[in-house]
Amino acid sequence: MKHLIPEFERMKARFPAGFDSSLVLPCLHRIQADRGFVADEDIVGLCEYLKVPRIQVEEVLSYYTMLRREGIGKTHLQVCRNIACSMRGAEDVIEHACKRLGVKPGQTTADGKFTLSTVECLGSCGTAPVLMVNDAYHENMTLEKLDALIAGLS
Ligand code: FES
Repeated sequence: MKHLIPEFERMKARFPAGFDSSLVLPCLHRIQADRGFVADEDIVGLCEYLKVPRIQVEEVLSYYTMLRREGIGKTHLQVCRNIACSMRGAEDVIEHACKRLGVKPGQTTADGKFTLSTVECLGSCGTAPVLMVNDAYHENMTLEKLDALIAGLS
């Protein structure tokens, strides 16, 4: 994490003095982009750097599901299972993804290619069911579209 401190310093310059704790979230995002997840040593380093208690970092980490404490597969499939998506077939999409990949939600395939997650509303309810492949939205998902997606990524 130490090699990111020059970037953190530039972020800090955009905040009013005395508001270093506001940097917890953007710093965690940057750490995750660098490592792929937030390791314990990152938490310790960030607490020291920002002079915030560990609980403040842990609260942010546990609140935002996009922040991860462990590494994931090369491709991250995140299927929304909230109300609009559920009413339009999300459970079928999840079940199909589990069968196709041979994993349960929260697991990574043995070859490290895919991690499957279920998430709450992705903010695209009008095009439910929705899933994300890494940072890209795939809307109005069907089992056929999911098959084609997985085949294209395998
Ligand atoms: S409920 Fe799935 S995007 Fe909102």
